[in-house]
Amino acid sequence: MKQISSHVGGCSLTCLIRAFLIVLSCCHIFCALSQKSEGALMVVEYTERGEGAAGEDEYVTVHDDDEVEEDLEVVQPTEQWQTLKSGQAVPAGSHVRLNLQTGEREVRLGEEQMKYWTQEHREKGKVQSSFSPDELKQAMKKIKEDLNFASKDTDHQDVVASKYRPLEELKKDMAQLDLVVETDVQIMRRLVDQFRSSNTTTEQRRSILLELEYLVHQVDNAESLCSMGGLEFILEGLNSSDFRLQESSAFVLGSALASNPVVQVKAVESGALQTLLTTLATAEPLSVKKKILFAVASLLRNFPYAQRHFLSHGGLQVLSELFRLDGGGILRKRIVTMLYDMISEKELISQAHLDPVPDVSYEERVRQYSTVSLQGELLEKGWCSLVPQLLDSTEHDYREKALRALLAMASVCLDQYRLNSSLLSSLLSLKDQYQEMVQSEMIVGEENSYFIEIVELIDALQVKMK
Ligand SMILES: *[C@@H]1O[C@H](CO)[C@@H](O)[C@H](O)[C@H]1NC(C)=O
Ligand SMILES: *[C@@H]1O[C@H](CO)[C@@H](O)[C@H](O)[C@H]1NC(C)=O
Ligand SMILES: *[C@@H]1O[C@H](CO)[C@@H](O)[C@H](O)[C@H]1NC(C)=O
Repeated sequence: MKQISSHVGGCSLTCLIRAFLIVLSCCHIFCALSQKSEGALMVVEYTERGEGAAGEDEYVTVHDDDEVEEDLEVVQPTEQWQTLKSGQAVPAGSHVRLNLQTGEREVRLGEEQMKYWTQEHREKGKVQSSFSPDELKQAMKKIKEDLNFASKDTDHQDVVASKYRPLEELKKDMAQLDLVVETDVQIMRRLVDQFRSSNTTTEQRRSILLELEYLVHQVDNAESLCSMGGLEFILEGLNSSDFRLQESSAFVLGSALASNPVVQVKAVESGALQTLLTTLATAEPLSVKKKILFAVASLLRNFPYAQRHFLSHGGLQVLSELFRLDGGGILRKRIVTMLYDMISEKELISQAHLDPVPDVSYEERVRQYSTVSLQGELLEKGWCSLVPQLLDSTEHDYREKALRALLAMASVCLDQYRLNSSLLSSLLSLKDQYQEMVQSEMIVGEENSYFIEIVELIDALQVKMK
């Protein structure tokens, strides 16, 4: 990383912003700021042209302290980098970079020159990023230093007040920008503080959790929340005597864990698995159980270490209790889907050696999954007779999930399937039913591949059971 580069009034800065997931409409502030402040670059705004015409009317100038001139020397950028001298200005949209080796600013034509400040661009504003967060942080630091330095220079400020944007205004923008850059982390910190405050009501805590749930879909946010102690109070929330808090806590946890290995590891280390299993067994009503199950599934996903502990902590017993008690079937479906996902995940790993280019972690992953004896446990804990019960559901979706799981478990359950006459007849009647539905859809000219898929699943299972 040798150069800090920026499109003056232009686009790569938008990118910075994207890297930080900042509200896009704030981009122009940032761009304007950097051109004004990076190494004391200044933009001259010809306000008499009126608003909306900002683009073509802005110039950027380089100056050092007192060397502000009334008549700006405007450098016309070319495709080659040119070194900018003090007091020189460049048209907005030029690409200005700071050469960190020489300490000099250089300019050349920007690809999106002049386009940026049009209203359309300002609104849509999505530009490809070429900046890493580190580059942005460095650039931000530089901007702040320059602002501090410049703010001492009050004489200069007077001189340029009519032409340059006042430094106070710049600083205000800067402060705003800071807010924008740190917005998610700041919001989360405020929410966490509020949550912990003793005079916050349960209702408020609940809405705080829902706000957090929204934020933790961002991988970085979920990690930040953990490092500010979020996991602890979320786990406390799971233990709460108020079921609404339990529900929202489980929801935040599940979303933070989803596809986030860092949070998964931290959660297991904080004892989340035990808390989840205990509350899953005891919590009421159904809505809470659903959310807790979601959190459990997120925790176990692609994480053999947690899966092994789930099994050794009696996770399958807790699930079978839930399964037996769930008349409506929604939990049944979710449980069966989760088991199916776990089985397929392990199978995918064992098939990965067939890849033309096996990846480096392959051996380790195989080793870790080999410690998860899921299939054996499923057999032992009675799942070969539980999963077929989901076929009795009237929902196509539930039946489909049941069929997939039955197929996935066939290697250990086959003997039991074969002895189960009720399962055999149930498969026959389902097959008739779905074939009929496929037929009647063909007659009316529709084709629903979903029903065909179900017929194929039944076929596959019947073939195995022969
Ligand atoms: C809650 O307590 C904090 C200090 O702990 C206080 O600043 C805040 O005003 C209080 N809020 C309410 C609504 O009482
Ligand atoms: C939740 O409660 C159980 C017992 O009721 C306790 O062992 C556990 O430490 C508690 N967890 C948290 C995070 O408070
Ligand atoms: C047999 O299958 C039915 C579903 O058709 C299921 O309800 C029952 O639990 C199964 N019994 C055994 C012993 O596997």
